[in-house]
Amino acid sequence: MDKALMQSAKDNLKNTHAVYSHFKVSAALRLKDGTIINGVNIENASYGLSNCAERSALFAAYSQGYRKEDMVEMALTTEQDKIITPCGACRQVMSELLPGDIDIVMQTKNGETKTLKNSELLPFAFTESDL
Ligand code: THU
Repeated sequence: MDKALMQSAKDNLKNTHAVYSHFKVSAALRLKDGTIINGVNIENASYGLSNCAERSALFAAYSQGYRKEDMVEMALTTEQDKIITPCGACRQVMSELLPGDIDIVMQTKNGETKTLKNSELLPFAFTESDL
């Protein structure tokens, strides 16, 4: 586990916009050039338009020109005392925008940690090869 990456995700919980659910989620992506890209959940009064932390981080990275081969690790954290794993929509996006073999590291507020490979999160994903 990349401890600095997880610390960055924890430090950035303060930037969540979770004003409706009060469920704060923070993601941090480590890139091969050393850069860390952060993402948080950003909610909206039209609830369905809210964006999860994982997709915020990935869309920010891609918007800056990074691509899946540049990605090294993703850290996820919340203020919860149980492990939170990415939602189904995020798993679909992660399956396309991140390599399958990178670690997705999830940590509770107390430091309990679970690590899964990206490919383990969504078996039988729908991919470009299905089109
Ligand atoms: N959320 C995330 O940011 N990532 C997940 O993987 C699960 C859910 C957010 C969406 C919403 O803002 C809040 O958590 C409660 O569902």
